[in-house]
Amino acid sequence: MEVVVCRDADEVGRVAGARIAHLVGQRPDPVLGVATGSSPLATYADLARRVREGSLDLRGATAFALDEYVGLPPEHPQSYAATIRRDFAEPVGLDPDRMHVPDGTAANPDEAGRRYDEAIAAAGGIDVQLLGIGANGHIGFNEPSSSLASRTRMKTLTMATREANARFFESVDEVPTHCLTQGLGTIMEARHVVLVATGEAKAEAVAGCVEGPVSTSCPASVLQFHPKVWVVVDEAAASRLRNRAYYDEVLANRPPSQLIAD
Ligand code: GLP
Repeated sequence: MEVVVCRDADEVGRVAGARIAHLVGQRPDPVLGVATGSSPLATYADLARRVREGSLDLRGATAFALDEYVGLPPEHPQSYAATIRRDFAEPVGLDPDRMHVPDGTAANPDEAGRRYDEAIAAAGGIDVQLLGIGANGHIGFNEPSSSLASRTRMKTLTMATREANARFFESVDEVPTHCLTQGLGTIMEARHVVLVATGEAKAEAVAGCVEGPVSTSCPASVLQFHPKVWVVVDEAAASRLRNRAYYDEVLANRPPSQLIAD
């Protein structure tokens, strides 16, 4: 795992954007895994800037979102289909037909989950997966207790997650109780992973992800088994890392161009 501690959220976005652009920029038809939430917004802004300036072209790209609320149609403004369209697909000029989101209205969600994994495989797999992290260590909507080998499927949201996401709804009661989420096993098949986190509220989850025991209690800790992960965080989100001095030393000894390219 490469742990990059940045000064602030903007720098997190620039570093994560540079990493993603490096990994997919030369490919005519890359496959991106994308996340909703506040954490990746600065990264999307950075990617959109690269597209505007002409150094990145995502017109041939395909993208797969991590998750969707069960019961919200894609037209609902707080559905993840609508959110990822607004935050990512439109700003970077992605072909709307190649922006995939799990079908939260499917009559048979588990069947929809299987189809989603098949669609990812048919696209050739995900080249780089961008992740945020929940305060309880979830990635996608894989709440604590998720199987580390799980596939895309329906999950029950924890009350803590529903409360955290209530800010996008009139009240917590309107936040759906279930979701369809890529599984931890699905996420682990991405060739590269970039996880972004900012703020003190994420510090415990980031420490669990990077340094804690691999455990379903902190689902993001499964990433310790992935050979190509970048964890890009600000000072506050890094504040509980025990080996912080070592990560800084690694960074200090490598020029930024080499850092992005590895
Ligand atoms: C939701 C999403 C996750 C996201 C998390 C954190 O639960 N399903 O993909 O990482 O929220 O969101 P934020 O970045 O807004 O803190």
